[in-house]
Amino acid sequence: MCGIVGFISKNKDTNFLIEGLKKLEYRGYDSAGIAVVKDGEIAVQRCEGKIRNLEKKLDDFPMESTIGIGHTRWATHGKPSEENAHPHQSAGVVVVHNGIIENYLELKEMLKGEGHKFTSETDTEIIPHLIQSFMKKGDDFEAAVNSALKMIRGSYAIAVINKAEPGKLITARFSSPLVLGISSGEYFVASDIPAILSHTNEVVFLDDGEVATLTIDGVTVKSLDGVVKEKKSTIINWSPVMAEKAGYKHFMLKEIFEQPQAIIDTISGRISEDSGKVFLPDLNITTDDLKKVKKITIIACGTSWHAALVGKFLIEELLRIPVEVDLGSEYRYRDPIVGEDDLLLLISQSGETADTLAALKEGKDKGAKIVSICNVVGSSITRVSDGVIYTHAGPEIGVASTKAFTTQIIALYLFTLFTGERLELIALDDAKKMLLDLVLIPNQIKEILEQKDTIDKIAKKYSHASDFLYLGRGINYPIALEGALKLKEISYIHAEGYPAGEMKHGPIALIDEALPVVVIAVRDKTFEKMLGNIEEVKARGGQVIAITDAPADEIGAKADGVITIPTTSHLLMPVLATIPMQMIAYAIADFKGTDVDQPRNLAKSVTVE
Ligand code: AGP
Repeated sequence: MCGIVGFISKNKDTNFLIEGLKKLEYRGYDSAGIAVVKDGEIAVQRCEGKIRNLEKKLDDFPMESTIGIGHTRWATHGKPSEENAHPHQSAGVVVVHNGIIENYLELKEMLKGEGHKFTSETDTEIIPHLIQSFMKKGDDFEAAVNSALKMIRGSYAIAVINKAEPGKLITARFSSPLVLGISSGEYFVASDIPAILSHTNEVVFLDDGEVATLTIDGVTVKSLDGVVKEKKSTIINWSPVMAEKAGYKHFMLKEIFEQPQAIIDTISGRISEDSGKVFLPDLNITTDDLKKVKKITIIACGTSWHAALVGKFLIEELLRIPVEVDLGSEYRYRDPIVGEDDLLLLISQSGETADTLAALKEGKDKGAKIVSICNVVGSSITRVSDGVIYTHAGPEIGVASTKAFTTQIIALYLFTLFTGERLELIALDDAKKMLLDLVLIPNQIKEILEQKDTIDKIAKKYSHASDFLYLGRGINYPIALEGALKLKEISYIHAEGYPAGEMKHGPIALIDEALPVVVIAVRDKTFEKMLGNIEEVKARGGQVIAITDAPADEIGAKADGVITIPTTSHLLMPVLATIPMQMIAYAIADFKGTDVDQPRNLAKSVTVE
């Protein structure tokens, strides 16, 4: 989605806006722009396309200032163009915005009736005109912003500057992410943490309906009704370098290789191998709450939905509590049968996915207990949850989710163990064994990562294919789905994940020598069946890439390519089986030269419907 940056400083700053926008490129965008107050006037530069086009303009028109705002636009209303790029202005009031204004047409008509002229097709452009309209009616700058926001229906994260008051930057949010950066004598605002990290790691998260006024003396946060809000700051332990590529060719590759550490960080401080105990202090759910739970519904989108599908297997096998899994975009419109005996588990890397957030609110309104599994501290979904399990995966910049996914499964595993202990459903010895299996996972992932050259060679053999089929069974069926999604979203090759048992019900008709089939054949209760599926494919001339923990002689002859992974509990095999899936997709996409970190048409966080 769109990215916003803004700053106010005692000293002139020339780079924050551009460098900050670059750190937000992963959000997906099609145009960009910045505005500053310079010599008492507003200076604006905008461009269609990449930020480098904006930099070229700034070479000719430098825009040093002590206050400014910037924006990367992911078009929702109006085509990608310079005219539609933000910032938008009216008589010295300049705005950048992320979100969708649902009533912008009626507001636009009202403003046109007051003589306002518009130059873009965007919904955003009504904001500076609306603010200006209230200032003309006597409101001061801050009051005018509040009045304007009260008239807006929809979602917004905005930053506003006004040439008449160059000592103030006003920012506000509703349903779109916004974070403030706190440093001495300079203050920042951005859609996401990486944009701020090179200046400060002390941040304040704005909540929906809050408005912040930034001056060089500090930050004041109020509700739209003017009530001062005391906000505590959070220290983000992500160094700026963490959000960089650290020498890898792509963020996605870096994040694939960060998974051992991401899982270590997600586990750390939460388990005791000696006592077999799991600690989830942010879960904020009592044992009595858990005893009341009759059904758990896990809701997510995309890759996070695949983690949700794995969660169903973990919870139902260990807790015998019925689990439903649903897509956020479906649940929110289903008028779901949910109430106080229900626990909703929302899974989201960004914590800002509109469909997942809407599904959460649907369940919350009907009385369900809400727990979210999320990777971003203080994100929207976490702030409306009763309890949270953070995946401490660090910033995930690549649009294709990798380390967030595997840590989501780890978080589900921890939740299941935690709940099993509280409900006395898991014997202490079993819990200790499960924790032992868990702490071995990071090193086992490293063993797989060390096979990169082998995996690259196998993958590249099939990079010309126009279609792929991914097969898995049981708890590994979601990993077949995930493998297919990874491949299609970064290499643009069509891929389909399928439960292997369904082959004879249709997909087997697809098999021919041009169709690579990736098969997850791990030694669980379905292993023999998976060997049968491999035979089926081979008998029809198909090409098989097998991902297996079986010795090569048990499977090697049957498959055209074998990727061997370590053995662990069947409940944790999905984590290990995912790694080759990610590496196959990455190798093929990198070989094809697609934009691995920012695949076409995709955004890292889908904050609109
Ligand atoms: C995953 O690779 C995709 N980028 C996408 O499916 C993503 O998982 C989905 O949009 C959900 O995002 P979230 O986890 O931030 O809610």
